[in-house]
Amino acid sequence: MPYLFHPSGSLPYHLRAWRWRHTLWAPFHAQVRRWLADWRPQATHLVLIGPSGGYALTVQFLERFEKITVLEPDPLARWWLRRRFPDVTFDWRDSGYLARSGGFAHLAAIYPDAAFLFCNLLGQELQGQPADFARAAWLSELEPALTGHSWASWHDLASTSRAPDGAVPRRLDQAIPLDELLAMAWRGGDLEITDHETAGLCPRAPRHHAIWRLAPRRYHLIEWIDVAPPRS
Ligand SMILES: C[S@@+](CC[C@H](N)C(=O)[O-])C[C@H]1O[C@@H](n2cnc3c(N)ncnc32)[C@H](O)[C@@H]1O
Repeated sequence: MPYLFHPSGSLPYHLRAWRWRHTLWAPFHAQVRRWLADWRPQATHLVLIGPSGGYALTVQFLERFEKITVLEPDPLARWWLRRRFPDVTFDWRDSGYLARSGGFAHLAAIYPDAAFLFCNLLGQELQGQPADFARAAWLSELEPALTGHSWASWHDLASTSRAPDGAVPRRLDQAIPLDELLAMAWRGGDLEITDHETAGLCPRAPRHHAIWRLAPRRYHLIEWIDVAPPRS
């Protein structure tokens, strides 16, 4: 079962989720829940993309939708999701096409009536990702492909082993360079980061930020964006 050890989730991820759920992860999950509470897409069908075990989700959020489709290749995550939300009906679907060129357009075509929630997936290594995967090119297809849909995403911008000594702006009216954002939270000195190649997504959209302490020595700078279809 190779997927059990896939880098973007699976067994190590679930063990961390269990271990840190009441401590390191709790402040970040509280923030995600506030973002979700404020996100009000005009759709009764929600497609969850990469929710893992739904550790950041609440039943109050899920109950707002009549139908919930889940794209999540990790069998352990699906098991946890069912276990955490026994009264919610999930429609499980394959998403091996997503990380390909045209993946977002395919998604929009299969679910024309749905709102999409990308659950910390856009900056991750994906199942089905081709060997020559170019994230910037892939992400450039997202906004045009989902025009007409409501969608939202929280995703990694950067991660590092250095603890922040400042704060990230909770809300920005539009994207600013990643370096400027990092300099607000990590002041001075050397900063070695993993760049998750998501900075500058939907550059003119308002966005929110938070720091997620994933492990005692691992900090992720997270961005939240939600996009509504233009009013007709
Ligand atoms: C960082 S984890 C998500 C964390 C989770 N949303 C949470 O809040 O704890 C990324 C998730 O994306 C899933 N994933 C990987 N490739 C995928 C794909 N092609 N389609 C949908 N989900 C995928 C992984 O199985 C994993 O659960």
